[in-house]
Amino acid sequence: MNQNPPAHDRPTPDPSACVPKPDAEAPRLVARAVTVRFAGLVALDRVDLTVAPGTVHALIGPNGAGKSTFFNVLSGVRRPDSGAVLFDGRELTGRPPHRIAATGVARTFQNIVLTRGTVADNLMLGRHLLTRAGFTATAFGLPGVAREQRTHRERAREIAEFVDIGRLFDTPVDLLSYGDRKRVELARALCMEPRLLLLDEPVAGMNTVERRRMAETIAEVRAALGLSVLVVEHDMGLIMRIADEVTVLDFGRRIACGPPRQVQRDPEVIRAYLGSTPDVPSVADVPTPVVPSDDRRAEGHRGFPPRPARRPDVEGGERR
Ligand SMILES: Nc1ncnc2c1ncn2[C@@H]1O[C@H](COP(=O)(O)OP(=O)(O)OP(=O)(O)O)[C@@H](O)[C@H]1O
Ligand SMILES: [Mg+2]
Repeated sequence: MNQNPPAHDRPTPDPSACVPKPDAEAPRLVARAVTVRFAGLVALDRVDLTVAPGTVHALIGPNGAGKSTFFNVLSGVRRPDSGAVLFDGRELTGRPPHRIAATGVARTFQNIVLTRGTVADNLMLGRHLLTRAGFTATAFGLPGVAREQRTHRERAREIAEFVDIGRLFDTPVDLLSYGDRKRVELARALCMEPRLLLLDEPVAGMNTVERRRMAETIAEVRAALGLSVLVVEHDMGLIMRIADEVTVLDFGRRIACGPPRQVQRDPEVIRAYLGSTPDVPSVADVPTPVVPSDDRRAEGHRGFPPRPARRPDVEGGERR
């Protein structure tokens, strides 16, 4: 099996090469029986999920279903209570975030997490793991450090252009529109040269035009860079456009998985979203409420109807 060396052991990417670098060997992600408990709440209940190499896999489910918790497990933010995560055949379970990132897993967050400074500053943070010069060499400006920094900066600029924020490279992120800040997050993740990209609600809060553009960008990223992508999203239109496979969580349990067209007509999925019998149109047939995504938590999902209030979900208790 192809063993990917830690990022700091990998050669610095050649910035003169054009950005798209197809990787026919995008590795497989396998999560087995992942369980996470918060006190009495079972946030993830023996969840299995496989992301096939080079595919876009969508993880969907109503609010509180456990999607972000699952991302936290994959990226090392949260250690699962039981279960295992393997990437490229190697065990990731319980490794700290920087070690997981070094294997080629990068993520974006549901709520934008950017530091102050320019787009370039943020993207250079994404290059941090790939930087070879140590702290001392950088602090004292030793020979080679400036050259390496230039190399990384040029690569960061290429990636910014690839995700259509090249013109904003030297602009402070505070001055950017919401949609462009989401793109900076995506670019920063790509700056880690990942082989698996975890995107937590990449179009939340965007308007229709921005969402469509972002969907195109994600599809282009996958095609051009040969990455695998796992995306959490509530926008079913986007999922139908870009996903090869969909896994549905509800109250921490996997209730369905398969191709998007199959999943959207699954009675269990419809029941989870509507809280009623499946004698209703498919999820995608339900009209999208015209609600800004920022207000989604209060007023229901964009693209999905709101669900009933969360049922008691005490460990060992009845879930339905
Ligand atoms: N740190 C925590 N402590 C206690 N409970 C938590 C914690 N993080 C998440 N939870 C709970 O775990 C469940 C799953 O939360 P999670 O954020 O993973 O859901 P989600 O599917 O991402 O929802 P959303 O669509 O709203 O983002 C929820 O009931 C949530 O309240
Ligand atoms: Mg979430």
